[in-house]
Amino acid sequence: MSLLLDSARISEAETVSHWGWVGGITTNPALLAGSGLSPTETLARLASLTPGPVFYQLTARDLEGMLEEAGRAAKILGDQLVVKIMPTPAGFQAAARLSEKISCALTAVFSPAQALVAQAAGARFVIIYYHRARTLLPEAESRQLVGDCLAALSGSETHLLAASVKSPHEAIELRRAGVEYLTLPLSVLEALVPHPLSEQAAQEFQKHGAGI
Ligand code: G3P
Repeated sequence: MSLLLDSARISEAETVSHWGWVGGITTNPALLAGSGLSPTETLARLASLTPGPVFYQLTARDLEGMLEEAGRAAKILGDQLVVKIMPTPAGFQAAARLSEKISCALTAVFSPAQALVAQAAGARFVIIYYHRARTLLPEAESRQLVGDCLAALSGSETHLLAASVKSPHEAIELRRAGVEYLTLPLSVLEALVPHPLSEQAAQEFQKHGAGI
């Protein structure tokens, strides 16, 4: 199981780098556009702040452009790179071409059929947008999305990763359903930690306890 940071802000990556329990960083074009630095500089700085994977999403729309862009990303991120690819016909083709050499993640996946194709194309990850699926898909489809994607990937080496997770409650729902990887905004990662009863217990130990 792994928790990742969904952000391209250097200050946020710095914050989680001190915690030691966040396993990597996911970005997307919108997050990179808001980082305040160039995408190249942002990616290099993010990579220096995590020993884990840094996800970069291709912006080219045609196959040749995607392959070239993945090569440029690999120069910046080396072995830390996971290329995020949109699930378009060209995107699946790019994943099939790249996945032997570079870890690929098909992103913004909204159906188990897309997960099936991602797995067949050799993707390491399938990324679903959980909150968006819950709010935008018909109820029956959204209720089954996680279970059906897990079933589509079962027995393979392709992992389900959930993004668009808006609360600790949604994170737990996803874990309960069997999702191994969650990428969360800083606010949700922070919100996983405290509980008033833990705080109360800590204060009691501080007041009445002894230690070495
Ligand atoms: O990384 C992208 C994903 O987390 C999307 O989140 O909040 O735009 O649905 P959101």
